[in-house]
Amino acid sequence: MNPSIAVLAGDGIGPEVMAQTLRVLQQVAPQITTKHGLIGGAAYCQYKSHFPTATKQLIDVCDAVLFGSVGGPIEAAEQPQWKNCEVNSILALRNHLKLAINSRPAKFYPALKDISPLKNERLEACDEILILRELLGDVYFGEKRTYTANGYKIAEDTAKYDENQIAQVAHHAFKIAATRKQQVVSVDKANVLDTSKLWRQVFQQVAKQYPEITLTHMLVDNCAMQLILNPAQFDVIATSNLFGDILSDAASALPGSLGMMPSASFSSKGFGLYEPSGGSAPDIAGQNKANPMAQILSLAMMLRHSFDLHTEANAIEKAIENTLDAGFRTQDIMQVGRRAVGTQAFTDEILHHL
Ligand code: IPM
Ligand code: MG
Repeated sequence: MNPSIAVLAGDGIGPEVMAQTLRVLQQVAPQITTKHGLIGGAAYCQYKSHFPTATKQLIDVCDAVLFGSVGGPIEAAEQPQWKNCEVNSILALRNHLKLAINSRPAKFYPALKDISPLKNERLEACDEILILRELLGDVYFGEKRTYTANGYKIAEDTAKYDENQIAQVAHHAFKIAATRKQQVVSVDKANVLDTSKLWRQVFQQVAKQYPEITLTHMLVDNCAMQLILNPAQFDVIATSNLFGDILSDAASALPGSLGMMPSASFSSKGFGLYEPSGGSAPDIAGQNKANPMAQILSLAMMLRHSFDLHTEANAIEKAIENTLDAGFRTQDIMQVGRRAVGTQAFTDEILHHL
């Protein structure tokens, strides 16, 4: 039977970058069937729920999920359509599918070296930094409460990890590192946090099974600084949920724009959800301005990891590089002397180079 994927475009720029991405899918792997579902604010309009049962049922019969983005404008955050939208949709979805590991590659493109905030000599030694992020633990999923005591409001978020959760990320990191530069930097805050002390211990323990890999530990504050001072020292970074959220945004800015960073999330059974690392960008939604690269590269990750379609995935990545080399730019990566194009025309060029 042909594989099928759940397509959840979501909100903001999600639908427009997804529409372009499906053109690419149609060209390289038309045998894959797409089934569309609603999530986020878009789902709320129809079902009064950010993650309706209909969408759960759709996902449960598909082989992978291609996700857009969710969330509304900050100024509308208290409206029912947007209130707790991210928590109720993408976090609930990660939990529903038990997506324990998130993989975010920040790739450096030679054609974009002048829009990077880094000096060229720092950038030239960089190829790709892969951030592996634990996705189901930490303050994201620990107990939360807001209450009043002695006339004050108090809020609590509990960070919690068990050793199996950490070991799963460690094994994944070492296996990936074996196919790359044989090095893993594990990032924590072990000088302060118990969860980080456990994180470090588990990484050291698991590392014994991978003697060919060099494991180093770095404190998260130092890592934030090192990413900017000397990004070329990193290949695979493995870290907890909250630190991974922050460091992956920081790393994505180094090549030039968050709009270029895809991501893949996996369950222990290997089920995959693929989504841009960035958000729904409501300020530019519906204007044909968004960079479709993150969504299209997420598709490439899906073809490679969920369907073993390596040739197709490589072809998409190459077509994107060629499009950049040919001088086409969306507004977020625009440079003097290059051709500014919209979401659709940029995708036309990718299709042309495929
Ligand atoms: C991300 C996003 C999400 C996260 C938000 C939307 C809940 O920032 O995927 O990085 O914090 O995980
Ligand atoms: Mg984030």
